[in-house]
Amino acid sequence: MNTKILNASQIDEAVNILRTGEVVALPTETVYGLAADATNIEAVQKIFIAKNRPADHPLIVHVDAFDKVKDWAEHISENAKKLAEFFWPGPLTIIFPKKNTTNKLITGGLNTVALRVPDHSLTLEVIKKLGKGIAAPSANAHKKTSPTIPEHVLKTLNGKIAAILDGGRCCVGIESTIVDMTCETPVILRPGVITALMIENLLGVKVEQPSEHQEKVAGNMKVHYQPDKQLFMMSAEEIRQLQKLGNVAIVYYSHIAKTECATYYKMPVNKAEYAKMLYETLHLIDKTNVEKIIVEKPPVSSDWTDINDRLLKASSK
Ligand code: TXA
Ligand code: MG
Repeated sequence: MNTKILNASQIDEAVNILRTGEVVALPTETVYGLAADATNIEAVQKIFIAKNRPADHPLIVHVDAFDKVKDWAEHISENAKKLAEFFWPGPLTIIFPKKNTTNKLITGGLNTVALRVPDHSLTLEVIKKLGKGIAAPSANAHKKTSPTIPEHVLKTLNGKIAAILDGGRCCVGIESTIVDMTCETPVILRPGVITALMIENLLGVKVEQPSEHQEKVAGNMKVHYQPDKQLFMMSAEEIRQLQKLGNVAIVYYSHIAKTECATYYKMPVNKAEYAKMLYETLHLIDKTNVEKIIVEKPPVSSDWTDINDRLLKASSK
């Protein structure tokens, strides 16, 4: 299949492709998503095939407004509603108890469903015109680094999907925070730019953020987001002490003395800017001939939890 690149003036074509049951990569503020009409199960199946994604790995349903949540979920708590009203459209995915009519292919066999309103005008327009929710995981082959520009989508899905709607560079750069609101205590299943503290401040209740999850929950696999090159994390001190660097890429944000053989990628010290550049930097390095990637361990403070989570899973242990 020839993967078409559509621009902002071709939204109707993206909508028509979705109507015919094909999958299209769409921009969101976090990363590109691989979308299918969530009410068309054969179309949803195509997502799993294109990504080579295991069937027990649930998908997020993207809707254009909070009032669509009731089409997919039930027992919507007051706190879940508060979160949605405050953070949507935005990089927060909320887990609700699923409605009977929500297909278990979408939920990976679970009795809960993940929903989010993405903050990207093109994709919101696509969802509105389609008039249905869209199921969309990140638009990359299973376990690989998420895409933040169309070129990254082509890297693993070229020829496997009908089209990519080009919405430019994703402004957040890492995937949404996932919060499970099916029990009294909110639980963060995947950290993101909306932090546990922000949720606690809004709701006035304690939020749990377990460091380890059962494998099946929220796709919390120990290996994920991996670039093609092997990635290792080291402190600035460990990097300084390396004797033979060889042909490596060093991704750093603090002061590191450079040697001639390595290639250096300076990252922003500001967390939001770092997040925006992280995947793009890893994709860029994948195109070079370095043998491995060494990433300086980011700060361990709570606002860097999301970056630490992604890098840990992207690294070769
Ligand atoms: O920012 C994002 O969330 C992007 C954009 C495209 O919206 N999407 C994304 O989707 O990262 P994906 O499929 O790559 O990651 C979604 C995660 C998976 O780890 C999945 O296991 C989890 O959400 N998930 C989906 N439904 C769930 C549910 N009912 N219970 C627990 N986890 C769920
Ligand atoms: Mg993903």
